Amino acid sequence: MTTNCHKPTEEEVDYVMAKMAASMAESGEDAFRKIFKFYKRRNPPPDLSNVIDFSRSAPSDQVVPAILDVGGVSDGEAARVGLQPVRDWRAFGLHGYPGFTFISNPFLRGSKPFWVTQCLKVYPQKPNVCNLDMHMSPSDTEDIWDKSVLSLSSGSPCGKTQAKTLLEKLRWVTLGYHYNWDTKTYSANHYTPFPADLHSLAFHVASACGSPGFNAQAGILNYYGCDSSLGIHVDESELAHSRPLLSFSFGRSAIFLLGGSRRQDPPTAMYVHCGDVMVMSGPSRLFYHAVPRIVAPPQGRPVFEAESCSPASSERDWAACCRYMQGSRVNVTVRQVLGPGQSFCLKD
Ligand code: OGA
Ligand code: MN
Repeated sequence: MTTNCHKPTEEEVDYVMAKMAASMAESGEDAFRKIFKFYKRRNPPPDLSNVIDFSRSAPSDQVVPAILDVGGVSDGEAARVGLQPVRDWRAFGLHGYPGFTFISNPFLRGSKPFWVTQCLKVYPQKPNVCNLDMHMSPSDTEDIWDKSVLSLSSGSPCGKTQAKTLLEKLRWVTLGYHYNWDTKTYSANHYTPFPADLHSLAFHVASACGSPGFNAQAGILNYYGCDSSLGIHVDESELAHSRPLLSFSFGRSAIFLLGGSRRQDPPTAMYVHCGDVMVMSGPSRLFYHAVPRIVAPPQGRPVFEAESCSPASSERDWAACCRYMQGSRVNVTVRQVLGPGQSFCLKD
């Protein structure tokens, strides 16, 4: 048998290389962006039938039960931060995403109002930092809640008729080591005490997920309106990549896309509902992710279950919280910036 074997010309090599690059771009480079755009699209709205819904889904080929450290958190410790006993949590992993844990609303009935109130009323207060500080004087951003609450009691969620309150202009708040969005770094000289209650919540969730001793040092709260999204990114500014990143979601639901360690890895789409907790540890700690879309809560479900008013807040405050949360989503990510024995460089 003879083979027609000739040495390829330079042009042929160039042609094949160009074809390969084109198909890489098709199937690789743009896969995440394509899927992001698909879910972000307004008209026509995307088909959401392939989005994993952990609040409904049973374990499958893709969804696996997560193994939790049930003994790592006592029922009393869990209850003190508003969580159900760990043995009652519905926690899942995802095939192909090592270190990723999704906990479907582990909060005790009636405990979310406390956390929502902290996110809207307490954490935006000084000395914490928020987007409004970038172009407003400290006295103007002093009492975001008090300045917004009256006007929030009227008007419709997602309505565009009234002037926006300060709370509705709030896009992010940083806690602890304050993230610098320009340099994408944290530094020793921009630190204020991390809220003890959120530190404790994160400590116990991390413990249950196999990361005892978690030390919450930085937090980023993102406030989303009905049309907001969050672009494709990795959270790699922390120096302690071996420590997990914890994410708590309240208010409206969202589509969350979790990709891989390479920018081009096609992501998996999942719903994140009010009260859901995600833990990104191990390899997943540095996986690309994004939020292309905020969505209405699943059919027939209100943003909050019929929960009683938090004893710590007045009825007026809780009514304003509910009103705001009908048209918003708040996501809190908690990060450990420095591992044991790590410190910032002297120049910081
Ligand atoms: C982040 C983040 C995801 C979310 O703040 O880094 O990825 O669910 N948030 O809002
Ligand atoms: Mn992130």
